This record gives sequence, C-alpha cells and structure tokens, in this order.
Amino acid sequence: MKTIRFLGHSCFMISNDKERILIDPFLTGNPLAAVKSDELKPTLILVTHGHGDHIGDAVEISVRTGAPILGVFELVNYCMAKGAKGISAHMGGKIPFEFGWVKIVPAFHSSSTGDGVYTGHPVGFVINFYGHHIYHAGDTCIFGDMELISRLYRVDTALLPIGGNYVMDIDDAVEAARLLNCSNAIPMHYNTFPPIEADPVVFREKLENKTRANGVVLKPGEEMVLE
Ligand code: NI
Ligand code: MN
Repeated sequence: MKTIRFLGHSCFMISNDKERILIDPFLTGNPLAAVKSDELKPTLILVTHGHGDHIGDAVEISVRTGAPILGVFELVNYCMAKGAKGISAHMGGKIPFEFGWVKIVPAFHSSSTGDGVYTGHPVGFVINFYGHHIYHAGDTCIFGDMELISRLYRVDTALLPIGGNYVMDIDDAVEAARLLNCSNAIPMHYNTFPPIEADPVVFREKLENKTRANGVVLKPGEEMVLE
C-alpha cells in the first residue's frame, strides 16, 4: 500500500513497504510536528529550499540514517559540508529511482539558511511514486507555468501552500489547483505561525466548487492512501 503522511507544515512522508521519501523535514521547533525527527528512517530526503522551516532536521536525519538529500547544487553542497549524504541536481533534472523518478521544477521564492548561506534557487518537486504523481510546490506564489507542469507530468496529488504572507493564500492555491488540473489537493504551510493562519476547510470548499480536485485536509500525523 502506498501512502502519503502529513507530518506538519510542509513536511510529508511518501512510503510503501520498501521506500520512504521524506520532504522538507521541519520537526524540531515546529509546534505542529506530528513526530520527532529521530523517529524517522527515510530512504530519501527532498528539500525544496534552505529556509529553516523546510531544511529543518534534514542534515541530522541524513547523518543518522545515511539517506541522501536531493536538492539543488548549492543546497546539497551546504548539507554535505555538514556531513550529510547528497544527490546534487537542479531544475530540469529528472532523477531516476527504483520507485520511479523525481523531477525538479521551479518555485518563486528565495533560498538561504539561518546562518546566511545562499542555497540556490528554491524549487518544487514532481515525484512519480510507483505511478502516482505527486507535486510538492515548496514555498511559492502562484505562477502560470503550473499549467505546463500539468501538461508534462499529469498531477494526481498536489501539495499546495495556503497560508499566505510568504506563499500562496487560499484563493491563489485554488487557482493553482485549476492550473495543475490535479485530482487531489492537500493544503500545507498554514497555522504553524501567526502570519500564516488559514482555514483548510475554506480551502477545501472553494477548491471543490471551482476545480475538479478533491480537497484532502490532513491533520499532522494523518495519511492518505495513494491509488
Ligand atoms: Ni521559505
Ligand atoms: Mn516556508
């Protein structure tokens, strides 16, 4: 059985009985984190950008488990200098794995670490996990080439920020889901901190009125089965 589990903020674990792909593991210091970072044993870690609420515990988890961090060149170099394993790539790269592939796509945002290191261009990921295509948008505003992503890859499940302020708000995320022509949309990046408060039920209602997507609201710790 393939599942995607929401761990809080923008952190998800996509897994079956063999593979465990962890995305944006911000757990330590996250008031809504569903797990502690030392409970996780991923086989692959994806990081969208260097901000602390995304790179989070990635280096510690990679050092402990040996799971490589996949991301853009500068971000992976930063992590490897701290002892992590890395897979360096960039936008346009389609990296093959036993489960399928990971494609790196653009995001409109910035990327640096808390200690001031530039970590390259922020990105999103399209993940083909045994035939189910998941798009993790990272931190981004809405942009027209989300439509191009849908044309190239078919998006089964989109993980979309809805908290506003730093990223898309609810209305932008609904329009993003329309551009992506996705079958399911799971909201993320809301209610962790005061500036990004948003009601995921309002997102689900607007989404299902205006697009063909099902809105799937997961509390931290909850999961969805991937068809
Ligand atoms: Ni950010
Ligand atoms: Mn963020």
